[in-house]
Amino acid sequence: MVLSPIKAARSKVTELTDDTKYDSLNLEQKKKMWPIERHRSAEVSQAFLSKIEHDGFQLCHQPQILEIVKGGCTPRSSSDPPGESTADSNGMHRHTITDAAWEALKQSIVYFKDQPIGTLAAIDKSQAELNYDQVFMRDFVPSALAFLMKGEPMIVKNFLVETARLQSREKMVDLFKLGQGVMPASFKVHHSHPTKKTETLLADFGEIAIGRVAPVDSGLWWIFLLRAYTKYTRDSSLAESPHCQRAMRLILKLWLSEGFDTSPALLCADGCSMIDRRMGIYGYPLEIQALFFMALRCALSLLKDSNDDFVYQITKRIKALSYHLHSYYWLDFQRLNDIYRYKTEEYSQTALNKFNVIPESIPDWIFDFMPSRGGYFIGNVSPARMDFRWFCLGNFIAILSSLATGEQAEAILDLVEERWEELIGEMPLKICYPAMENQEWQIVTGCDPKNTRWSYHNGGSWPVLLWLLVAVSVKLGRPHIARNAVELMEKRLAKDDFPEYYDGKTGRYIGKQSRKFQTWSVAGYLVAKMLLDDPSNLRAVSLEDDGHIREPVLKRSNSCPGPHVSNWQ
Ligand code: GLC
Repeated sequence: MVLSPIKAARSKVTELTDDTKYDSLNLEQKKKMWPIERHRSAEVSQAFLSKIEHDGFQLCHQPQILEIVKGGCTPRSSSDPPGESTADSNGMHRHTITDAAWEALKQSIVYFKDQPIGTLAAIDKSQAELNYDQVFMRDFVPSALAFLMKGEPMIVKNFLVETARLQSREKMVDLFKLGQGVMPASFKVHHSHPTKKTETLLADFGEIAIGRVAPVDSGLWWIFLLRAYTKYTRDSSLAESPHCQRAMRLILKLWLSEGFDTSPALLCADGCSMIDRRMGIYGYPLEIQALFFMALRCALSLLKDSNDDFVYQITKRIKALSYHLHSYYWLDFQRLNDIYRYKTEEYSQTALNKFNVIPESIPDWIFDFMPSRGGYFIGNVSPARMDFRWFCLGNFIAILSSLATGEQAEAILDLVEERWEELIGEMPLKICYPAMENQEWQIVTGCDPKNTRWSYHNGGSWPVLLWLLVAVSVKLGRPHIARNAVELMEKRLAKDDFPEYYDGKTGRYIGKQSRKFQTWSVAGYLVAKMLLDDPSNLRAVSLEDDGHIREPVLKRSNSCPGPHVSNWQ
């Protein structure tokens, strides 16, 4: 198998702003840029595709590919550890994986009007159906972080600008008009004329998605990314531009709007986030609440007018949300025991069991799963319903956003260590734990044939989540956790062609319907590596504890916090 030689980039990368001129990047960043190959949405290099289709990508056994990639234009990261460029076989192996990942990431870049604006969800042409040929907002996050850490921010800027434009379109599902602030789940470049250069962006706000659910996470990720961009480039002109200020306010207006809620958590439909199919996460899923908290804190640092009523509303919501999640979502051995002994049918302000959770509804598995050392935020809380499942994204975002107190953050990582076999197994990282089976699976997923037990969203293992595990481990000064997970992943990821997800209790099998060359598996690995190699990269993804009020103060029960030193809390 021979890789086609890599061409030098044809077009100089510029920003995609026709009506607004934002301040450009400083010279040093420009110097660091490496050329990006150009591809249109769904038009990836034929050579690359035939390589995937006919030969696979047996990188670990094909050291000559490394030479070709190296000899081409794969950038050498300033953060690559020096040891990796030696001929030592382990270093070589890791080097090969990183090079392959950069190459795959470059191949996934989508161009619009000659400028890079995002990355395809996957470049696995063997499964052409569905919408993996689109740029997904959430999927682009790890790609964007990889580009930012590499000193290549223009694609991120273009993405932010173009998606803010998409937001301003009128969005309809049947006869119903969606809220102005909704951001698309995904978009693609549409070529309306075969020869003329007439490109437009086609967006999906949920009106063509499976299940017709609007993404609640897209707008929250957009704000997170705007902050990451601003932190990396130290260029606040984009965030301060009228377009971005407006987009941010529209998102927040929608997310902060008043309703019938008695809690500050966001009420959501099933399937409105990374888990985008019916999985029993309707109501107040942690995945969204943690992202909401993160986005609110990011917005506070980005909004220009810090004195207006809007900012006041955000500050109040942050406190209320934090109080709510700490009081009702946090679970450790002690709390589990308290819930187990709950009285029911309590009425009045002084009720302890506020949501009337019936102890008999506590699932059996949690009694074994809960270690005496450790804890986590559970998946969902609503009347008479606590979803005790562990959800990876929500817990790690809680740490990165400092929603979790220092003690809780340590307890979450304690849990990961104590339950390594269950949550990491042979391939990092379980999206949620445990899987639903039998009648529960039938009722909750509606017999979804993709979400069978220990597959896909139902307890599958998703490589993309590695970057979050690495980020929190580095933040808490426990990088050995990250290193162990990265090592595990390196055994398989490139050899298996960067699958979207793995199946099985320990994540041993490539997922039943998993795409290959899934871009966020590729980018997640690269971000993880760069975070480990240079912890200062954390500044863009982590928020410091600002001491916002958290009551009641919850103690980490029976856990023994080791003296972990961290510079990044
Ligand atoms: C699947 C995932 C979703 C992801 C999309 C594109 O639908 O569930 O989270 O955004 O694929 O990769």
